[in-house]
Amino acid sequence: MHPKEERTYLMVKPDGVRKGLIGEIIKRIEQRDLKIVALEMFKPTYDQIDSHYPKDEAWVKRLGSKTLNTYNKYGFDPMTEVGTSDEMEIGKKVRGWLLDYMTSAPLVKMIIQGIHAVDVVRKIVGPTMPATAEMGTVRGDFSIDSPVLANKEKRAVMNLVHASETPEEALHEIEYWFGKTSAVCEYKRFGVDE
Ligand code: CMP
Repeated sequence: MHPKEERTYLMVKPDGVRKGLIGEIIKRIEQRDLKIVALEMFKPTYDQIDSHYPKDEAWVKRLGSKTLNTYNKYGFDPMTEVGTSDEMEIGKKVRGWLLDYMTSAPLVKMIIQGIHAVDVVRKIVGPTMPATAEMGTVRGDFSIDSPVLANKEKRAVMNLVHASETPEEALHEIEYWFGKTSAVCEYKRFGVDE
């Protein structure tokens, strides 16, 4: 594969769509000389989102343990908040909050192509937790959500976008959301491809 052909997958999440940030996010990707080769707004089904997020025990437990740590750190009793202090049980609840959040409004999905597309898009987006994301990143400029607030309100952290973490995850997510024969649009970007 030519280095310019690395691809990643990005989804504008419900809060990104409802805050009117679709254009801003696209702008930041394009101004970095990355190329959008597929783009669609759609309303996902609950099942589609359910299969998008991992279901394995380790992933669910990690989600539970992060939430448990947040409750402990900020002095909230998990029993009072969610009726259990078991990592797996809490993880399942958080996963449920995540599915509710992700199906609460339309999403915008896209395939982005270019040099180091996976890493550069993650830099543009910023780290998972908006409250600690640097200014200059999408999350750091347009959100201040944090797990302490989200977990207290029994909902997922709203962080505007999803972006694949690795090239392998990108391949998987592109195939999952756009199909095996993904209808990508080939074209030459001025100053990038010629
Ligand atoms: P993302 O990294 O795209 O995929 C997992 C999502 O779970 C993450 O974005 C957040 O929306 C959400 N999330 C991660 N950690 C927590 C947490 N501790 N509490 C609530 N939601 C979380």
